[in-house]
Amino acid sequence: MPERVRPDSSIFGLLGLYFPKKGMPLETLNVLFVGDIVGNPGTGMITNFLKSFVEKHKVDFVIANGENAADGKGITEKLAQKFFGAGIHVITSGNHIWDKFQIHEYMMQEKNLLRPLNFPKGSFGSGYVIYDLGQKGKVGVINLQGRTFMYPIDDPFRTADWAVEKIKAETNLIIIDMHAEATAEKVAMGWYLDGKVSAVIGTHSHIQTADERILPGGTAYITDVGMTGPYDSVIGMKKENALKRFVYATPSRYEAAESDAKLAAVVLSIDKETGKSVSIERIFYPPFEQTINTKS
Ligand SMILES: [Fe+2]
Ligand SMILES: [Fe+2]
Repeated sequence: MPERVRPDSSIFGLLGLYFPKKGMPLETLNVLFVGDIVGNPGTGMITNFLKSFVEKHKVDFVIANGENAADGKGITEKLAQKFFGAGIHVITSGNHIWDKFQIHEYMMQEKNLLRPLNFPKGSFGSGYVIYDLGQKGKVGVINLQGRTFMYPIDDPFRTADWAVEKIKAETNLIIIDMHAEATAEKVAMGWYLDGKVSAVIGTHSHIQTADERILPGGTAYITDVGMTGPYDSVIGMKKENALKRFVYATPSRYEAAESDAKLAAVVLSIDKETGKSVSIERIFYPPFEQTINTKS
């Protein structure tokens, strides 16, 4: 692959005269963003395979959405610690974050486990963090939740404005987890924040979309990064129970499925100086033709 250099849009560059600094190789930070971890199969994918993806893609910073880690509903302190131990720096979440209420107290002290920032003021825990990677710099992570086809909370757009401005005082590298049901709301957030943040990554719908791209302002975008969990299921739930819900239109017990584990993620490469993304690559492992079952 040819060496990447920062594009020269100055008058010197346009005239073909290159200012030395512009020709210097880009210094990038590589970020792995892992989609919603569901149950034991998803946890197993993290403990068994995360390290190899980190090495392969020379990853500096790992974010994962953990809202479904505890059998599909919420997350526990034990699981959060297991994820941190496996190399995840920041855990984001969404509407399921409150399902295991024992997590509330832990969230008040663990600043790297996030809940959506636009929950009403005074909710447990925090919705954004600035992570200090030492020599490699600082990365801001903001967790937001959509309002379309979800319960109404505060405005994620105005909330993003507030948090982006606050984080920009310390770093240009900002990653958004946009946890939302409606594709349109996620796309809208991508355009709203284009040029202001490094990436807007959609979560929650558990199906990986094929629309990853770098928007014109330098913001990496994907509507949904996908589920890290059991695919012999209906978005992570046992098929038999999920089918009853649809076929008989009656409630059915939610149980996380157990087999055909896969890892869904994206790798971002971000210009350390400007905070703009230079690439976004989708990961889905293993492909549908291969089945693996993990133990967490
Ligand atoms: Fe989820
Ligand atoms: Fe969700």
